[in-house]
Amino acid sequence: MFFFKKRVKKVPIKDEVIIPFDSSNLDQLIDFIQNYCGINLIPKKDVLKERFIRFCKLKSLHSFSELLENIKYNPALRQDFTDLITVNETYFMREIVQLKDCINYIKKSQKDMRILSAPCSSGEEVYSLAILAHEANIPSSSLKIVGVDISSNAIQKAKEKSFSERSLHRLTPAQKELYFKEQNSRFELKDFYFCPIEFYIYNIFDNSFLQLLPFDVIFSRNMMIYFDEAYKQRAVERFYHLLKPSGRLYTGHADLMPKSSLFKKVTIGKLSYYEKI
Ligand SMILES: C[S@@+](CC[C@H](N)C(=O)[O-])C[C@H]1O[C@@H](n2cnc3c(N)ncnc32)[C@H](O)[C@@H]1O
Repeated sequence: MFFFKKRVKKVPIKDEVIIPFDSSNLDQLIDFIQNYCGINLIPKKDVLKERFIRFCKLKSLHSFSELLENIKYNPALRQDFTDLITVNETYFMREIVQLKDCINYIKKSQKDMRILSAPCSSGEEVYSLAILAHEANIPSSSLKIVGVDISSNAIQKAKEKSFSERSLHRLTPAQKELYFKEQNSRFELKDFYFCPIEFYIYNIFDNSFLQLLPFDVIFSRNMMIYFDEAYKQRAVERFYHLLKPSGRLYTGHADLMPKSSLFKKVTIGKLSYYEKI
């Protein structure tokens, strides 16, 4: 039996054309992002440029102008880009004084209440409120919590209820034990008798956001730090619109609320919140 070596026909290798990336129009891209979701990327512009170029290359786009044109008309690409630029840092029981104050307020009111967490990121703020409400014996039927965020990644994580150990670092050992099941170094929130919770992807600057039913309390913490004064003002007006009369707005310590005739600031020791006028 003879074996013949198969002759491989030589195919001439085509000259690979490497298209240089055109990184002009970064400023226009940054402007578009701010108009779309309020996030001011100017302070981080130089750091983000390389990340944006890598994103474009992954999507086979050769310039920031091409990216800009595409994100205007392609919602899926816009969502991917939004997920890239948002900072979703959060953890359970963050700024707990405000969370506890809200729960006391709800308990004392003895009314059915609706809380909005905007933004909720991966859900830790929402679940912290649900845990504290449960521990305060607030009937689950008298409270509803809605969490919204512009990041689809964050909302997906919120719905999956699977958290890192770091995210739980402010919980007591008893709370970790009671509410979570450890699996492969992740902490899964158990199905508990919490109040009803819903999560949605929303850009707070979309008109559809204003179609949500009114809320008694809104938490908007650690988002407005990424906005300039004009967008903070616009955000605050939207929260005003979504709050019931005398409703409460809790903002993060770093958010620096703009001066507003729409709200009265209430400060009690280390605690502060805003009351709708
Ligand atoms: C640092 S997290 C804060 C989460 C949580 N409130 C907390 O304090 O732990 C900021 C979140 O704001 C969201 N965000 C930024 N701009 C937004 C917008 N226009 N509409 C809705 N969410 C937005 C981001 O996706 C991100 O998840």
